Amino acid sequence: GAASKGEYRHYMLKEIYEQPAVIAAALEGRLGERSVPVECFGPDAEALFERVKQVHIVACGTSYHAGLVARYWLERYAGLPVQVEVASEYRYRTVVVPDDTLFVTLSQSGETADTLAALRFARERGYLGSLAICNVPGSSLVRESDLTLMTQAGPEIGVASTKAFTTQLTALMLLTLALGRVKGLAAETQAELVAGLRSLPQLVGQVLKLDNAIERLSTAFAEKHHALFLGRGAHFPIALEGALKLKEISYIHAEAYPAGELKHGPLALVDSEMPVISVAPNDELLDKLKSNLQEVRARGGELFVFADEQVGIEEEDGVRVLPLPHVHDALAPILYTVPLQLLSYHVAVLKGTDVDQPRNLAKSVTVE
Ligand code: AGP
Repeated sequence: GAASKGEYRHYMLKEIYEQPAVIAAALEGRLGERSVPVECFGPDAEALFERVKQVHIVACGTSYHAGLVARYWLERYAGLPVQVEVASEYRYRTVVVPDDTLFVTLSQSGETADTLAALRFARERGYLGSLAICNVPGSSLVRESDLTLMTQAGPEIGVASTKAFTTQLTALMLLTLALGRVKGLAAETQAELVAGLRSLPQLVGQVLKLDNAIERLSTAFAEKHHALFLGRGAHFPIALEGALKLKEISYIHAEAYPAGELKHGPLALVDSEMPVISVAPNDELLDKLKSNLQEVRARGGELFVFADEQVGIEEEDGVRVLPLPHVHDALAPILYTVPLQLLSYHVAVLKGTDVDQPRNLAKSVTVE
């Protein structure tokens, strides 16, 4: 059952392994043949989505990282301007809300104090409407929002969020396709992404098979005090999420940078004591990422690259490469999240931390 670890040593590992099934659950009944039915977001969604001219997304922690990924998707496929902000900042800002703005909150628990306060603040600011993407039915966020989409991840017990994040991303791709459809996204593109979503559970299952290889890799981190995560485009937020996971459960200081920012400062930190983790899906930014990785190598940094098996990044001295199956470039952020979860999990196990209940943290932050 949901409340037992079963064969797994920790809830976190169990929840990582549940991802193929819960991503399938998040898609269940929500995919048409070649498009996403707008009614998934409720009977009033179509009329509301037609009026949307921009989107504001507000959340905390891992849920915030999901929002950052969605910005790339909504701009690219729905042509909508998007702002994404952490709730604790948003709620105290003099937010200027343009006409016809949709307000979106993301939350696993639906009870995060700052996110809830941001929703209440937004209700007074003349938004077109509010949508909550949430994992807990009947939570405060769900009850107080105009539209809701449940992520269907099932109970998440580990404090470090895993399946809640990948199902949020899945739900956000559904939102992208629903808004895109209303805003005239090409039928062919919709069909391609729908097909990509359908194959996602199986691809995530394939990535889980890297578990043993990632466990072996994790020994390189156990004695380190710092780590740097690099990504570009929609994989910058995935780098942020990878760094957050490592911090939360292994207590190793980790930072994430957009790979293009390296030269503007963090390159000064790189030496043999600073492992650098990078996600390299096969997208239009790959060549730029490759040259950033050479810069790291030239400074003696040890590289760990999760790369599309088709891109031909070669292992060499100081460069470890883990191949991932090829995936539609827009869906790659979902797939590339999984090896980073496994990496931080195995590093934490090696370090002997309390993986499911890391020090100083609570599963939901219900006070400010
Ligand atoms: C994730 O691993 C964290 N424990 C934390 O950042 C979490 O995502 C954040 O507190 C938001 O929670 P929510 O999704 O329940 O609102």
